[in-house]
Amino acid sequence: MNSSTPLPDGDSIEQMQQGDLALVHQLECASQQEPWSLQNFADELNNPVATVDLYWHHDQLTGFLCTWLVAGELQIQNLAILPAMRRCGVAARLLEHVIARSKIADLTSIWLEVRVSNRPAIALYERFGFSAGGKRSAYYPDGEDALIMTSQQ
Ligand SMILES: CC(C)(COP(=O)(O)OP(=O)(O)OC[C@H]1O[C@@H](n2cnc3c(N)ncnc32)[C@H](O)[C@@H]1OP(=O)(O)O)[C@@H](O)C(=O)NCCC(=O)NCCS
Repeated sequence: MNSSTPLPDGDSIEQMQQGDLALVHQLECASQQEPWSLQNFADELNNPVATVDLYWHHDQLTGFLCTWLVAGELQIQNLAILPAMRRCGVAARLLEHVIARSKIADLTSIWLEVRVSNRPAIALYERFGFSAGGKRSAYYPDGEDALIMTSQQ
């Protein structure tokens, strides 16, 4: 456990295993406008720079955070929390856990792309000190722009 703040009783954060794929994909489909495929998650298991951290509330998968750590830069690839468990601090705990673990390695900066309309996610990242560093026009398949957000560590 790398979180600087202890998790509530009954909660845990574990790295995704092969046997978790179907459950993770189900949560993804309940959360995202253009969900990753199950194969996208399977590919993360074979990617040496990738980690998918799963947040468990007792036996219930309530969230996940996919990151890549490349040459000191943490790239947030995907994040989703079960709709019924939002605004309970789950995403914040996952982010805190992964940032604390990455600091033990060689973390210097964090980087992500987010839909310009995604106010909850932008508010979450701003709370963690991220700032907007530019836009990618029509980045998403439906034509929406991506906001690039970064945080220096
Ligand atoms: C964005 C998302 C991951 C946030 O997860 P969450 O577990 O609900 O977030 P938390 O409870 O940890 O929120 C932490 C802080 O982020 C901000 N925040 C989160 N959701 C918010 C919302 N709907 N409106 C405003 N601020 C919000 C708040 O500052 C919040 O602190 P507070 O509750 O004390 O005010 C979640 O809404 C989600 O899964 N959305 C769909 C998938 C998605 O958009 N992923 C991000 C892709 S980049």
